[in-house]
Amino acid sequence: MEESLLTVSGLKVRIGSREPVRDSSFSIKSGSAKALIGESGCGKTMTASAIIGLLPENASADGIVAYRNRNILNMDERQLSAIRGSEISMICQSADGALNPVYRIGKQIERIARINGNDDAAERAEALLKATGITGAGRKYPHQLSGGMQQRALIAAAISSSPSLLIADEMTSALDRKTEAEIMDLLVSLMTTQGLSMLFISHSIALASAYSDSVAVMHGGFTVEDGDTADVISSPRHPYTELLIRTSRLERNPDGTFLTIKGSMPGSWEKIEGCSFARRCPYAEKICFSETPGWKYDGNHRWRCIHG
Ligand SMILES: Nc1ncnc2c1ncn2[C@@H]1O[C@H](COP(=O)(O)OP(=O)(O)OP(=O)(O)O)[C@@H](O)[C@H]1O
Ligand code: SF4
Ligand SMILES: [Mg+2]
Repeated sequence: MEESLLTVSGLKVRIGSREPVRDSSFSIKSGSAKALIGESGCGKTMTASAIIGLLPENASADGIVAYRNRNILNMDERQLSAIRGSEISMICQSADGALNPVYRIGKQIERIARINGNDDAAERAEALLKATGITGAGRKYPHQLSGGMQQRALIAAAISSSPSLLIADEMTSALDRKTEAEIMDLLVSLMTTQGLSMLFISHSIALASAYSDSVAVMHGGFTVEDGDTADVISSPRHPYTELLIRTSRLERNPDGTFLTIKGSMPGSWEKIEGCSFARRCPYAEKICFSETPGWKYDGNHRWRCIHG
């Protein structure tokens, strides 16, 4: 059986009276790429922040986030610091300020490599610039790089400590299609050359379909479907996933208008009774508004809906 590097099970995140994550559950096998997808506000970044132990100060988390069988949620700050960076690294969604504008790229990566205990940080920085395809960028300042090259520099910095798991949160959404594909290709090639597993977070079904081995779909703070990417994309079992796929293909209604997913997802401040998708779901029945659906399974593929 393939080893699970990370298992998230029943993860809840609370911030005051808000509940941005209500039950996030999925796992990542060693050496694989997992996509975490869903519309804006469904809880993707909060889930990732809990995994790397960087939730907002006023947040609390319950459940299991087991990295190599140790629950990160039970760790103290010292144990977390040992894992953060050297085991799990994250490229954040708002990475704008991540590169210091007044230092050359090479020096910044060298500094991070030194902090992470590399004896020959200069050599490591050079190797990382080469591995990320920006050998010549070491002497440049961040403003002298294109968006794609800046992302490559961020990747170089994120993997400088040789982590086992890289979390990439919406890191290509500001890039054009061609550059996005180049960055995704780079990440996938680094999985092999650097021995990385990856959790990449995206709104995009197309990206998940092209670059992940497995996919977890979130709605209203819940994981609602999870499985091998090929199975989930070819035979979605949760109505939300089905609609995400059909709208991404720009399907039309019988009257010629574009298909959309009606309404909006429940906010983190709302109390959810029953299925989180009930008020948007074309197949909803009375019971959907009062009972939270449990998991249904077909091999590795699972979903939370009364149907199927
Ligand atoms: N610091 C915060 N305090 C309170 N609520 C927050 C905070 N950050 C996010 N939220 C709320 O938590 C919910 C989930 O947010 P999260 O950032 O995880 O969504 P997301 O799926 O990453 O969305 P996006 O695709 O837009 O990045 C949202 O309803 C959001 O408003
Ligand atoms: S449980 Fe009901 S509301 Fe939820 S997805 Fe299934 S049919 Fe739709
Ligand atoms: Mg986010």
